[in-house]
Amino acid sequence: METLLVVAAAETPVYRARFAQAMPDLHVVGTDEGFDPAAVDYVAGWHAAPGLFATLPGLRAVFALGAGVDALLARDDLPASLPLVRLLDAGMAEQMVEYALFGALTWQRRVHDYDLQQRHRLWRKQPPRTRGETAIGVLGLGSLGGAVAGELARFGYPVTGWSRRPREVDGVRCLHGDDGLVQLLGETDVLVNLLPSTPQTRGLLDRHRLGLLRPGAYLVQASRGDQFDHAALVDLIDDGCLGGALLDVFEREPLPTDSPLWTHPRIRITPHVAATTLVEPAVQQIADNIRRLRGGEPLQGVVDRRQDY
Ligand SMILES: NC(=O)c1ccc[n+]([C@@H]2O[C@H](COP(=O)([O-])OP(=O)(O)OC[C@H]3O[C@@H](n4cnc5c(N)ncnc54)[C@H](OP(=O)(O)O)[C@@H]3O)[C@@H](O)[C@H]2O)c1
Repeated sequence: METLLVVAAAETPVYRARFAQAMPDLHVVGTDEGFDPAAVDYVAGWHAAPGLFATLPGLRAVFALGAGVDALLARDDLPASLPLVRLLDAGMAEQMVEYALFGALTWQRRVHDYDLQQRHRLWRKQPPRTRGETAIGVLGLGSLGGAVAGELARFGYPVTGWSRRPREVDGVRCLHGDDGLVQLLGETDVLVNLLPSTPQTRGLLDRHRLGLLRPGAYLVQASRGDQFDHAALVDLIDDGCLGGALLDVFEREPLPTDSPLWTHPRIRITPHVAATTLVEPAVQQIADNIRRLRGGEPLQGVVDRRQDY
């Protein structure tokens, strides 16, 4: 019988029980109990102890319990020849759509402006903004970005998306390449970043590129925290160039308590919860992939090691 090792920190018992139920023909073990490293065929999880993969000589595939795999790719114990598989949507796209919509409405309905006015008991009407005049830019048109761009367009916002290769998303103007990025930034009021963290995207939203956004624009940063310049963001907001930000991800997580981002009146912080992995769809998707692997069929969501996502 094949063995699946579950590595999911505090959630290991929950995932272990659910995998065992979903695949009765699989021996499911967790890092919270004793297991034979030589017997492990598959790993499902995140935050594996350093060096763990090197102790598993029979490992055939690693299934990430998330959509982003930058932390797994940064490890030195995961051979490049081993299939690394990530979750495709698995209930996260819907959550990300909600998060992005929350950000778009925060800008459109001037939530930060009115929050500030409320602090001063100030009753003052600001000029209204319509959906039609709220230009949304979505960086990344994959499982999550594609869904976000499509849904925000259906909601009535003019949406422009940006990806590495040319893409088509219903109702969305799709751009690619360096020129496409410059064009998108210059026409965007609400920028939603859903790019994976790769050598090409780390630091992408630097002072210069953030400064290309429309005056008073808003950043929704929900992918990874190493893609934007925290200090530049604060400076640009304080200078009135940007209108604020909704931030879910940070270079250091948890965000250190002394970070100025916590108390900035135009920055809203959430603790990496924009789209949470849901046990049921995650287990179903990984179980389906294990069946595919056994049947010699192609796996869904294999990470392209040349592109790092
Ligand atoms: N905050 C949270 O709770 C949370 C939850 C889940 C995921 N995430 C983050 O969201 C990210 C996106 O997830 P996903 O499932 O949508 O990923 P995905 O399906 O791999 O999509 C990635 C998109 O980014 C584009 N892209 C990649 N590198 C690029 C580059 N150098 N220039 C331009 N476009 C580039 C890809 O272009 P192509 O279409 O041309 O390939 C693709 O459209 C994850 O990597 C993770 O970091 C965050």
